[in-house]
Amino acid sequence: MDVRWPLRRIVNFMRITVIGSGHVGLVSGACFAELGHDVILVDNDPAKYEALQRGECPIHEKYLPELFQRHHGTKLEFSKSLAASVDKSEAIFIAVGTPPAINGEADLSFVESVAREIATSIKDYKIVVGKSTVPVYTSEWVRKVMLLNGAPANLFDVASNPEFLREGTAVSDFLYPDRIVIGTDNKACAERLRLIYEPLLDGSYYQRPDSLLPHKRAQAPPPLIVTTAKSAELIKYASNAFLAMKISFINAVATICESVGADVDQVRKGIGSDARIGGQFLNPGLGYGGSCFPKDLSAYRAVARECGYDFRLLEEVVRINNEQRERFLRKVRSVLWTLKGKRLAVLGLAFKGGTDDIRESPAISVVRSLLGEGCKIQAYDPAAADNARELLGTGNIRYATSAMEAARDADALLVLTDWEEFRTIDLDRLRELLRYPIVIDGRNIFSPATMAEHGFTYTSVGRGDVYHDASGGQKSPVAAKKSADPQPDVDAVKTP
Ligand code: UDX
Repeated sequence: MDVRWPLRRIVNFMRITVIGSGHVGLVSGACFAELGHDVILVDNDPAKYEALQRGECPIHEKYLPELFQRHHGTKLEFSKSLAASVDKSEAIFIAVGTPPAINGEADLSFVESVAREIATSIKDYKIVVGKSTVPVYTSEWVRKVMLLNGAPANLFDVASNPEFLREGTAVSDFLYPDRIVIGTDNKACAERLRLIYEPLLDGSYYQRPDSLLPHKRAQAPPPLIVTTAKSAELIKYASNAFLAMKISFINAVATICESVGADVDQVRKGIGSDARIGGQFLNPGLGYGGSCFPKDLSAYRAVARECGYDFRLLEEVVRINNEQRERFLRKVRSVLWTLKGKRLAVLGLAFKGGTDDIRESPAISVVRSLLGEGCKIQAYDPAAADNARELLGTGNIRYATSAMEAARDADALLVLTDWEEFRTIDLDRLRELLRYPIVIDGRNIFSPATMAEHGFTYTSVGRGDVYHDASGGQKSPVAAKKSADPQPDVDAVKTP
């Protein structure tokens, strides 16, 4: 038996330190506690630490408050001291930020300084696990830095355990993952990491009467994929790049659909039903945003370049993504003609529905352009308004507390984020509140047929436009403009 392996292993619960209380750190820490481990979450930001100590959940993430309530102060503790936490733990997960540097590479200075600090605190055997999204070779660098800073080689192993957590569904993604990837060049270390995830891998967590999300219990336990550290690091970048590529691909297809009069909903159903392709991540719209895809794509390109490979496919993925916002703005201009002084209702500011995160949000970028063109914005987002206010201020933009309040007296309504609650808004009421019944949908949350039925002029992405015949009532700018063009009989959906 390995003497470094504590006896408490028999019951399979481990003492874990998670360093960094950002999205990944918070969710991973709380979920490790949910699996039965004793977790210390370390953050050196005093304000964040105090808030966590008070039991406040600093991010908008479904089920995280429940996990805090279950484990706060028992299995989930907080600390400002990395050294003291490392001392008490068997496994240390590094979940600090890896922001983009000016050249597109990931800035690994936080990872390095954490590795240095762990090295100087080590007194007995630890596994040090990379959870942050990092370039290939990071595990190797962490090992080198730790050795350089005096950590004895026999007292630690380094591994990579990438996460695949989406904001908004991160807790569910952690507890019900598609796969668990463990990357290490040391078999014993892989076994230790496997034990941390055992309740998921053997399905015992799903049998617990108190397991979270009971409706998902029937799901088969996830497969474990054990790889080298380098492979695990590549899996994370390559997965994100592939998903971003799917989104750009369908956006390019949507553009062709618009040119030829096809319907992207039908096309994506047709291609997504091929099991080899799969239907997920084929929703066209304003393109991807968020704290991961844009950053990871540029970091992946930089990694490839450094390895001597020019990954031009990724460049094209980014180009198509940026173009989606431009195309949307062109649509707004073509529907509304001039923009200066127009009052526009905006639904959604977050980079996607279900989160308050506005980092790299396509919605924010569109709003900025519209403000730049002299529009007045009335915006509603169920969670991201405070963050948006900090970034965009209040000049020419008003933050409404409901979709209907945003819509009141607006010249048109723009859908920029795919929040579920937008799908069920009362369309008749919306039509009454808007000055003109015009909806420009950057996330395809409504169906053109429904919008036609409710008397809207409706434009979306990759689908037929709907033109409302305003001749019976108040004439809308779009109807006036479009009626000058050769159009088929209006009030009809131009889909097959
Ligand atoms: C992503 C990865 O999915 C996750 O595995 C990784 O760990 C972190 O990065 P996240 O950034 O939270 O997660 O969001 P995700 O749900 O992947 O969406 C990213 C962006 O793509 C959003 O702006 C979303 O609106 C957009 N998107 C997604 C589309 O435009 N179309 C789609 O079909 C799917």
